[in-house]
Amino acid sequence: MSKRVGIARAHTNIALIKYWGKRDRDLFLPMNSSLSLTLDAFYTDTRVIFDDSLSADVFYLNKEKQSSKELEKISQFLDLFREYTGEKGFVCVESLNFVPTAAGLASSASAFAALALATATALGLEMSREELSTFARRGSGSSTRSLFGGFVEWDMGTGSADSMAHPVDDAAWNIGMIILAVDTGKKKIASRVGMEHTVQTSPFYPMWVETAAQDLQEMKAAIIQQDFERLGQITEHNGMKMHATTLSANPPFTYWTAATMKAQAAVRQVREEFGVPAYMTMDAGPNVKVLCRASDMGRLVKGLKEYLPAEQVLTSLSGPGTYILSEADWQASQVAFSRGEHHD
Ligand code: ADP
Ligand code: DP6
Repeated sequence: MSKRVGIARAHTNIALIKYWGKRDRDLFLPMNSSLSLTLDAFYTDTRVIFDDSLSADVFYLNKEKQSSKELEKISQFLDLFREYTGEKGFVCVESLNFVPTAAGLASSASAFAALALATATALGLEMSREELSTFARRGSGSSTRSLFGGFVEWDMGTGSADSMAHPVDDAAWNIGMIILAVDTGKKKIASRVGMEHTVQTSPFYPMWVETAAQDLQEMKAAIIQQDFERLGQITEHNGMKMHATTLSANPPFTYWTAATMKAQAAVRQVREEFGVPAYMTMDAGPNVKVLCRASDMGRLVKGLKEYLPAEQVLTSLSGPGTYILSEADWQASQVAFSRGEHHD
């Protein structure tokens, strides 16, 4: 019985220009290009084994066997590779999230980037990270960007073959992110559902698409010039616009809670008090992420802990792109997970 194994680690990413809306639901083609920062503090490790003795796919997440609904998502994703290669075998997928799952901290981004590289490795495929990102995209759009480290653009492309990620800058220049994890429980409205409802019902949506394109161009220029304040201003403005589209959907909804607003108020207070630039952004969940200079992070964290419980204030620097792990790395990862080093 033959077994072919691939193991990979992918880090999560937080969008600074949000992906919000699909123009093709089946192919995961976005309405607008987006840009993110990959984080070093949060990641997913995934091992894929094509095993001739299996009669169906199996999926373990965080050491627990998953429901048929979760398995189906994984099997459909694996089918993309099976169709591409003509492979017929079944797969055992084991994945460990070193990030809270489904809490708006982008577990689906690291999940499908890791799964894409692990599957390609098991199948012996030689693909560029760009090409691999077109596979990751079809598991979850935001995972497109996790193939690369630092600042990454997901170019909306003209079709499935060129809707892919490109590295913009490896963000070695003093960038940090503070995560105000006010609630790491499972979100009630999946990003997929929220964005579709917004596209269909918000009268503000066309303006979102138009202005996101302008924001992206300006942000890329700010990154090239290493203009942190401009980068942060565009980040905060773009994120707020995305959330304005949920309030203007019909019926309206929001991912924010009272705890979100309290965290936002703390950010405003601390940046004003210290005169330190810090800019917030939120995703499809209640948590607040704060973009700052890495060298200011210590001071900002101290200030934020005056207003929020210390355990809610997490930090990250810029992280690397997706990479292959060895079996020894995988064993070490299992030990780390069992020790509880997984943020939830
Ligand atoms: P998040 O903010 O964490 O990305 P989403 O609701 O967008 O939240 O995505 C969470 C979903 O992604 C989970 O319900 C699960 O279906 C999938 N997922 C999360 N982690 C993994 C993983 N390691 N491997 C495969 N799928 C995963
Ligand atoms: C608000 O990538 O989770 O985080 O493609 O349907 O899986 P699907 O959606 P997903 O949406 C992410 C939305 C966001 C913004 C972003 O990450 O760009």
